Amino acid sequence: MNQAASTETDYNYTVVRQFTVMTIVWGIVGMGVGVLIAAQLIWPALNFDTPWLTYSRLRPLHTNAVIFAFGTSALMACSFYVVQRTCQTRLFGGPLASFVFWGWQLIILSAAITLPMGFTTSKEYAELEWPIGIAIAVVWVAYGIVFFGTIVKRKTSHIYVANWFFGAFIITVAVLHIVNNAAIPLTMTKSYSIYAGAVDAMVQWWYGHNAVGFLLTAGFLGMMYYFVPKQAGRPVYSYRLSIVHFWALISIYIWAGPHHLHYTALPDWAQSLGMVMSLILFAPSWGGMINGIMTLSGAWHKLRYDPILRFLIVSLSFYGMSTFEGPMMAIKTVNALSHYTDWTVGHVHSGALGWVAMVSIGSIYHLVPVLFGQDRMYSIKLINTHFWLATIGVVLYIVAMWISGVMQGLMWRAVNEDGTLTYSFVESLQASYPFYFVRFVGGLFFLSGMLVMAYNAFKTITAEKGSLKAIELAQEA
Ligand code: HEM
Ligand code: HEM
Repeated sequence: MNQAASTETDYNYTVVRQFTVMTIVWGIVGMGVGVLIAAQLIWPALNFDTPWLTYSRLRPLHTNAVIFAFGTSALMACSFYVVQRTCQTRLFGGPLASFVFWGWQLIILSAAITLPMGFTTSKEYAELEWPIGIAIAVVWVAYGIVFFGTIVKRKTSHIYVANWFFGAFIITVAVLHIVNNAAIPLTMTKSYSIYAGAVDAMVQWWYGHNAVGFLLTAGFLGMMYYFVPKQAGRPVYSYRLSIVHFWALISIYIWAGPHHLHYTALPDWAQSLGMVMSLILFAPSWGGMINGIMTLSGAWHKLRYDPILRFLIVSLSFYGMSTFEGPMMAIKTVNALSHYTDWTVGHVHSGALGWVAMVSIGSIYHLVPVLFGQDRMYSIKLINTHFWLATIGVVLYIVAMWISGVMQGLMWRAVNEDGTLTYSFVESLQASYPFYFVRFVGGLFFLSGMLVMAYNAFKTITAEKGSLKAIELAQEA
């Protein structure tokens, strides 16, 4: 009997299914907007002289859609699934899980309406105005109650490490969101932060960096610790390393925020602290990556024929790359070159597309058949096609941004013998266009992969239950 049928009555899979489907839907929407804004940077006329299609409004729509709609739906799907399986008990709270799903979708919808209308707090990644901010806090607390309630009523003696990461992500995001969004409302659509000046900047980037550290990193590491061993059919390489990884990561990440504010009004010591903590962060990040990749010890051959495992392992390689690059960019002298340039955007997307999106995609491919009563996805070949579209897409995107970023930094600081600037800003912009085009093509590749995934998932979900039987992948290859 397949996994889904045997456990259907014991576990609440409905909410996991809902979040899983919405992950794919929001992935397509968020990345679609990403491709549109990438195109607008080459052909500005694509805003059609319409205020709600302008770049400044669509850019936060993109970041909110990919992080909070796509990424967070994936995290909610996987955390609700993993916590049930590893605690061997149904989700706590009955209808509360359903409230989390519908509440979160409503929040996404209100973001999709208010951001193009131009309502914004102007705080990056925390743009949503105060009524939506309050709704986020309420739904998030409900999410925490369901998750931790399930841990409390678990039937296993220990708490599997993936849940530690999910738990840290849920608690920290609640604290970050509530503190950073503290504001005085003026009207229903306008508020002012209770912080001012350099303090406001510091709170904002304490939030911003830890949104990266806990939402885009710790949560997805929770996914990694469950789905990599599952898909590889091996136990995690070192359980002891995973515990060291957890405590080291969460205690160091929280200090690194000031690296976003180098050479600003922030006190110099705070900037240096942020830099040093970022450099130290390299160690636990790579410890975790090595733990994930080494889980394949003795099963490396599976990479030849299992495209889901490939998604998971390549995502870890990108995680390793971006967590090497991040500490380097945090060094003040390097940041003097990289800040304001496309290098940052390249770094962001090697983390966001290479790590966050690819580990989510791999996990969702693992989940869909289990949730919908099949042994496997409708087409393994299409997963493979998706893998190559995604990998080529990320590489085109980030290599283009690295080259244009370093080029911009060097052009802006070039001076003639008489001390005047060698290049005007417009010259650096003109030089960037070819790279913007390559990034646009990379984005199209990645987006097409998502469409292939949607088709494959649709065929899997609508196939007669139990009709997609497991096949021996090694023989297929
Ligand atoms: C098809 C895929 C994607 C494309 C084409 C794309 C494109 C873009 C573009 C054009 C920008 C604006 C860059 C600028 O202002 O110069 C951007 C920003 C951003 N994107 Fe994406 N994106 C994609 C996927 C994603 C995903 C999956 C995530 C997160 C999980 C993500 C997170 C971000 C973030 C955080 C920023 C802001 C970066 C910053 O402020 O430095 N993107 N994206
Ligand atoms: C050891 C780990 C990491 C360190 C030390 C680090 C460090 C940095 C630094 C120094 C910047 C540039 C700040 C600036 O000049 O304004 C940056 C930007 C950024 N990084 Fe990382 N990074 C790390 C990992 C990651 C990962 C894994 C992701 C994504 C999943 C990520 C997402 C971002 C985003 C979204 C920004 C842009 C923020 C903005 O300006 O809007 N980082 N990071």
